[in-house]
Amino acid sequence: MPFDRSVKIAPSILAADFANFGAEVQAVEAQGADWIHVDVMDGHFVPNLTFGPPMVKALRKHVTTVMDVHLMIAPVDPYIDAFADAGADVLTAHVEAGPHIHRTLQAIRGAGMKAGVALNPGTPASAVAHVLDLCDLVCVMTVNPGFGGQSFIDMTGKITELREMIGDREVHIEIDGGVDVGTAESVVQAGADVLVAGSAVFRGGSVANPAPYGENIRAIRAAAGA
Ligand code: DX5
Ligand code: ZN
Repeated sequence: MPFDRSVKIAPSILAADFANFGAEVQAVEAQGADWIHVDVMDGHFVPNLTFGPPMVKALRKHVTTVMDVHLMIAPVDPYIDAFADAGADVLTAHVEAGPHIHRTLQAIRGAGMKAGVALNPGTPASAVAHVLDLCDLVCVMTVNPGFGGQSFIDMTGKITELREMIGDREVHIEIDGGVDVGTAESVVQAGADVLVAGSAVFRGGSVANPAPYGENIRAIRAAAGA
């Protein structure tokens, strides 16, 4: 997984057909997805439930790009090995999920994965100032996590600040929530390179009719100026 700052579109399978995940992953990859974003929710850290390591492991067989697993769970540490075994390439934990994000990031890297740290809209950039050398990705939430299809919350100032803090480090800035043709440009201008998009990618298409996925991905990429 060589590092670069080109714009990457990461469809979130939260907006896919849950009874058809394997085929949905294949369809969005065939339509131009760069990464596959997988949202794990526990009904405790966020007010919604999705799925756990066995589902992620089953998905792995269908992902040929990068499997980007976003944990919205607390605690995180007891599950790190299970997500490594499931085949996550990037494993992202929320800084708000516990008091020991430093240890969590070390453990994620120690288990052989790229380590990500996510920030809720109410959390300042400074929360990750002392862990930037331990992570490979900072995820800036532009909605309150838990659900797809919510309206974008402007975090431009935070993204700009993080981009400066990151400097030459090989750390991606990922944006998650409400990314569409109307919001992609501002976040990329501010310094983001990974754009998660659920509803804006899956809207209008299906496994039987995947062409809209490609149109949506190309439209977001074009809007981002990529
Ligand atoms: C929200 C999830 C997002 C979500 C994005 O808690 O982390 O990944 O699927 O969905 P959209 O793009 O519809 O806002
Ligand atoms: Zn997510």
